[in-house]
Amino acid sequence: MANDNQSNGGTFRRGGEPAGEAYKAWLRYARLDREFIEGNGYASWCGTVVTASAEDAALLATARRELAEGIESMLGRRPQESGNADEGSFLLIGTLGSAELQGLTDAAEREAIGDEGYILRAFEQPMRRFIAIGGNTDKGVLYGAFHLLRLLQTGQPIRDLNVVDRPASKLRMIDHWDNMDGSVERGYAGRSIFFREGDFLGDWDRVRDYARLMAAVGLNAVAINNVNVHETETRLIAPELLPSVARAASVFREYGIRLYLSVNFASPIQLGGLTTADPLDPRVREWWAERTADVYRHVPDFGGYLVKADSEFRPGPFTYGRDHADGANLLAEALRPHGGIVIWRCFVYDCQQDWRDRKTDRARAAYDHFRPLDGKFDENVILQIKNGPMDFQVREPVSPLFGGLQRTNQVLELQITQEYTGQQRHLCYLVPQWKEAIDFDTYAKGPGSTVAKAATGELFDRPLGGFAAVSNIGDDGNWTGHPLAQANFYGFGRLAWRPELSAEQIADEWVRLTFGSDPDVVATIGRMLLDSWPIYEKYTSPLGVGWMVNPNHHYGPNVDGYEYSMWGTYHYADCHGIGVDRTVRTGTGYAGQYHDAPAAMYESAESCPDELLLFFHHLPYSHVLKSGRTIIQHIYDTHFEGAEQAEGLVETWRRLSGKIDAERYESVLSRLEQQAKHAAEWRDVVNTYFCRKSGIPDAHGRQIY
Ligand code: GCU
Repeated sequence: MANDNQSNGGTFRRGGEPAGEAYKAWLRYARLDREFIEGNGYASWCGTVVTASAEDAALLATARRELAEGIESMLGRRPQESGNADEGSFLLIGTLGSAELQGLTDAAEREAIGDEGYILRAFEQPMRRFIAIGGNTDKGVLYGAFHLLRLLQTGQPIRDLNVVDRPASKLRMIDHWDNMDGSVERGYAGRSIFFREGDFLGDWDRVRDYARLMAAVGLNAVAINNVNVHETETRLIAPELLPSVARAASVFREYGIRLYLSVNFASPIQLGGLTTADPLDPRVREWWAERTADVYRHVPDFGGYLVKADSEFRPGPFTYGRDHADGANLLAEALRPHGGIVIWRCFVYDCQQDWRDRKTDRARAAYDHFRPLDGKFDENVILQIKNGPMDFQVREPVSPLFGGLQRTNQVLELQITQEYTGQQRHLCYLVPQWKEAIDFDTYAKGPGSTVAKAATGELFDRPLGGFAAVSNIGDDGNWTGHPLAQANFYGFGRLAWRPELSAEQIADEWVRLTFGSDPDVVATIGRMLLDSWPIYEKYTSPLGVGWMVNPNHHYGPNVDGYEYSMWGTYHYADCHGIGVDRTVRTGTGYAGQYHDAPAAMYESAESCPDELLLFFHHLPYSHVLKSGRTIIQHIYDTHFEGAEQAEGLVETWRRLSGKIDAERYESVLSRLEQQAKHAAEWRDVVNTYFCRKSGIPDAHGRQIY
């Protein structure tokens, strides 16, 4: 099976230049061993692709092209394309209603796969043997084609193939924080792939390559501009920029992805020349209706608007004494006639807090703002809830809005870009972190009421829902800066499609697709990925307290970096202890925003899980954890351990020398070396700070400064 270091990657169209291995990401389609191809019958099944007749749906053409090119790359021979499904051995692609695929499935299956699902099934009949890739729609067929390619690439048997699959959620979205000057807010992989100097960049080949990577993992929505919509970006919905927006949308459309734009709530003033953006003002409503109709004239399948309002100095309905439901419903009304949706973010809090004030609690804010509005949002509004309630820290509890909102559509917002988790210089595979959030039991309807079910809409029978994540993509040759950070993008897509996949399964799959199936490579990189989040957590801020980073850019240790600021992000360390009291009994009351079982678990320091203890409690350094160690000794031990393990990652990677192409090997190595150095800095800064603050020495007498 695939274990060579080079792939021909003929499918990437990038400006005619040969694409580097890292550029091809999980679509390398490395050549498979000849014996393996023969032994598994790949060659005979995949020698011909038959496309069901009388269908010219655009995504069917994409599926056919992807299959032809992927198979050619892996098997060394381009499949023939034929219309004859009567005899021989072939792949048969098409919608299930077409003449060729009719009768291959029953009504229950067709119902089960919905709009975006597919069946993949092998048939052996007297005159013909074929694998059918069928969906109710051409989009389902495209996802089925990528599934088959993934099976081939990872060397799975296909002889008795029988897969019936559909995505768990309707919305599987990537949010870009790209600005039109070409910068990317919190971007660590170069500049924007969409914009430059106030305009579209126009590298549509690259955008297409990106769309392929997205579709291959089942993503179906993209917002191309930053939620902080500045002056130029406000114009994305203005007549002069809409033709370019339409061009971008058409590239994504080839891969079944709908384009969204982040919009400025004050657009009626900035673009429309009105004196107000009051959501209840008829002129404002009319303005949005007209502008939106124009957007749809350019982009008939436009997805809708993503909005950050009344958050971190962005304008919003508060200015006019209105609430978030008024604001969101205004845009919903404008989008509804065209089938569009509003995605309204819940990341709303007081960012001008006084650090002396210990009652105001940023963690509470989203729930306090949005829970009272539950049921007041229109059907085409989705609330986007950030993980976690503070801000993408390495460890936070899940937002109590999950389980709290019962009559409102919602999506879980994750951050793929590693703002607080090492900025793509440190290795931090985030899928295990996301899994904890997704699998968390809110108890909203008793045991089993997981965040996954709330987000997908299943728990409260909501029509819309899903998963959104902030992109870690830039114009670097390898897309993500750190080559191994590609695993996070890949993993997000896979989880959004199927939240019950395990972090281990996703890691294993990604390594095989990206580096081939050499057992040593698969085991080693898989382990590195799975160990990386715990390692990062160990040498950074302890026990869920968060922050402790340098202000603004958020890289590197600074224990008091946010302690005396206005952002509401404090640890309250003094000479006795550390942590934020968020209990109902003596603290901010945040713990009481959860349903009974989790609320009780967090309320008591005895039952609160160690890893979140300082998120919920202010405790003395001598407090003994469930692990048997005191808090202070835990801080010392984990920081020594974490830094040592970061060193260990370098050694582990070195053992793969010769098994990975030089480009990716060297690039990962240099980042791991940087990480090890930087982890030692974290260790020494954090340990020294707490040793000086507490006056308690390390029980093992290790070096602290
Ligand atoms: C974080 C991040 C900001 C971003 C904000 C958001 O605070 O640092 O850059 O704008 O999240 O999610 O809106």
